[in-house]
Amino acid sequence: MSLKADELLKRIDPRRLPRHVAVIMDGNGRWAKKRGLPRLMGHRAGAESVREMVRVCGDLGIEVLTLYAFSTENWLRPAAEVKGLMTLLVKTLRRETADLDRNNVRLRAIGRLDKLPAEVQRELHQAMSALADNSGLILNLALNYGSRQEIVDSVNALLREGVTAVEEKDISRRLYTAGLPDPDLLIRTSGEYRLSNFLLWQCAYTELYVCSHYWPEFRRAQFYEALLNYQSRERRFGGLGGT
Ligand code: FPP
Repeated sequence: MSLKADELLKRIDPRRLPRHVAVIMDGNGRWAKKRGLPRLMGHRAGAESVREMVRVCGDLGIEVLTLYAFSTENWLRPAAEVKGLMTLLVKTLRRETADLDRNNVRLRAIGRLDKLPAEVQRELHQAMSALADNSGLILNLALNYGSRQEIVDSVNALLREGVTAVEEKDISRRLYTAGLPDPDLLIRTSGEYRLSNFLLWQCAYTELYVCSHYWPEFRRAQFYEALLNYQSRERRFGGLGGT
């Protein structure tokens, strides 16, 4: 570990860590372009950041890490890039499952999974069942995910139940994230101040952190900086907070 990361780690209060961290991993394409590389190389480098984040979150005892890996809008990208992303996903799951298991990680996925390529669905379900008995970090992958779609799906599920009036808790229990705590911290890389249809319901009181690093540059030290920034905030949830 670099000295800088070590120094930052010492300043983090282990008693005030977020339970759930969500990440919009943006900037893979720009990272690649800056280096004159194809966009897919950016996604590959981004997968290394994913690896490092999973490891660090597990080590810190964070409960849930949700990653926006593929949005419902991402299908609009060139077919070769979509295919490349799906292949990267399959290969990463195949390569990393044993290591995730050694690190006690569980795997979950949110989104319209039934519309993903069959191979991705198969690999995902295999990895999820291989890791089902673990008790550490929940790695939650948002795949073919759109938040408005999720809310619509929740309401439709409630209608099918025969519910005639809904409360907030009803919508929550039918979201793809049912059973997970809402994110305490949402990180977006590469400088854009947007939610991009990600966890709109769940982020009602979430602390937002935007940094200028491209996702492949977002590693241990950058995550510690985000955690320190989070710990410097006072969360009031609409109240007045402590005095
Ligand atoms: C955004 O960068 C990134 C994505 C749409 C895909 C994220 C995927 C990975 C990090 C790959 C592997 C993931 C897992 C879970 C193994 P962008 O392409 O929008 O970048 P740009 O805005 O600079 O074009």
